[in-house]
Amino acid sequence: SATDIRLAETFRSDFPIGAAVSAHTIHSQRELLLQQYNSLTAENEMKFICIHPEEHRYTFERADAIADFARQHQLGLRGHTFVWHNQTPDWIFQNEQGGKADRATLLARLQQHMETVMGRYRDVIRCWDVVNEAISDEDGTYLRPTPWLEGIGEDYIARAFEMAHAIDPQALLFYNDYNESHPGKCDRICRLMRELLDVGVPVHGVGLQAHWNIHDPSLDQIRAAIEKYAALGLQLQITEMDVSMFAFDDRRTDLKAPTAEMVRLQEERYRDYFKLFHEYREVLTSVTFWGAADDYTWLDGFPVRGRKNWPLLFDEQQQPKAVCYDIVRARQNL
Ligand code: G3I
Repeated sequence: SATDIRLAETFRSDFPIGAAVSAHTIHSQRELLLQQYNSLTAENEMKFICIHPEEHRYTFERADAIADFARQHQLGLRGHTFVWHNQTPDWIFQNEQGGKADRATLLARLQQHMETVMGRYRDVIRCWDVVNEAISDEDGTYLRPTPWLEGIGEDYIARAFEMAHAIDPQALLFYNDYNESHPGKCDRICRLMRELLDVGVPVHGVGLQAHWNIHDPSLDQIRAAIEKYAALGLQLQITEMDVSMFAFDDRRTDLKAPTAEMVRLQEERYRDYFKLFHEYREVLTSVTFWGAADDYTWLDGFPVRGRKNWPLLFDEQQQPKAVCYDIVRARQNL
C-alpha cells in the first residue's frame, strides 16, 4: 500500500517532488499529499481570474487555504501564475470608456496585482511562474499573440520579470511553457531566454510543463531540450508533469481502464524520465506533477469530452502504481 514507499523522501537529496492541488484536493488527497509529496502548486486558485476577478476585489480564500496547508506542513509551494493569455479577467485590458486600456494602465495594474499577491505569500512561495506560455506553437513564428503583447508591446515579458524582481528580490522567477521539448518551440523559448538574459532581465529558470503522453515526445527530444535549456545557465523545473495514456490525436472514448499496452508504455516512459531527471539533478531543482493521483486529473475530459485518463504515478484509489515502486527502488539502488 501507499505507506510502503515514500516518493518525495526517496528523492529528497535530488529535488522536491510536487503535485498540483485545489482547495478541494488538499482535503480529498490529504494523506497522499503528506506522505508522497513535499511541494505543491495551486492548479487554478492563484491565477489572475481566480484571485482578482474585479479591479477592486481580491478573492483570497481558496488560495489562502492552499498556502496555509503548505505552511502548516512545511511543504514547498510554487506560485502559478501572473502573465498568461488564459484565465485572465477582461477588466484588465479595458478602459473606463469600454475601449482598450493603454500600456501605462496595463503595467500599473500588473504591478499592483503582483505586489499584492507576491506580498501576501512571500513567506511560503519562493518561486513564481511570472510569465506562462508566451511562445507560439507554430514554427516560423515567435511570440504568441495575446492581449498582453498587444496592449504593452514586445517588452511585456521583460517588464513583468523586472517588476516581480523589484517586489521580491529573493524570489526565483520562472518562464513556464508546454511543448517545451518540441525542437522548434524549444529553440524559440531559448531565443526568448537569451534575449532577456542579454539585457540583464532577472529571469532565473525555465519551467518545463511536461504534459507528455506515452508516445510523445521521445526521450531523445526531452534530453536534447534539457541540454539546450541548461546551456543557458538557468535552473530548470519540471512544473506540470503528466503522461497521458492517449496520443494527442487518439479520440477513443470507450476505454474503462487503460490497455495492458498503455500501462507497459507508461511504465517504460516513467522509468526513463526519472533516470533522466536524476542525471540532471544539478540543474533540475524540482519535479511537479499536474495532480497527485488518477482520481482527479485535468486530463479527464481533455481534449476529448467525457473520457477518463490515468496519467499519474498514483491510481484512482490513490495507491502507488507498480511503476512508482520501480522508480523508488531504482533510486534506492543507486
Ligand atoms: O471555476 C469554474 C466553475 O465555477 C464552473 O462551474 C466550471 C464549469 O466548467 O468551470 C470552472 O472553471 C474551470 C477551472 O479549470 C477550475 O476548475 C474551467 O472551466 C477550466 O477551463 C479550468 O481548467 C484549467 C485550465 O488550466 C484552464 O486553462 C485546468 O483545471 C488546469 O489544470 C489547467 O492548467 C494549465 C496550467 O495552468 C498551465 N499549463 C497548462 C495546464 C493544463 O491546461
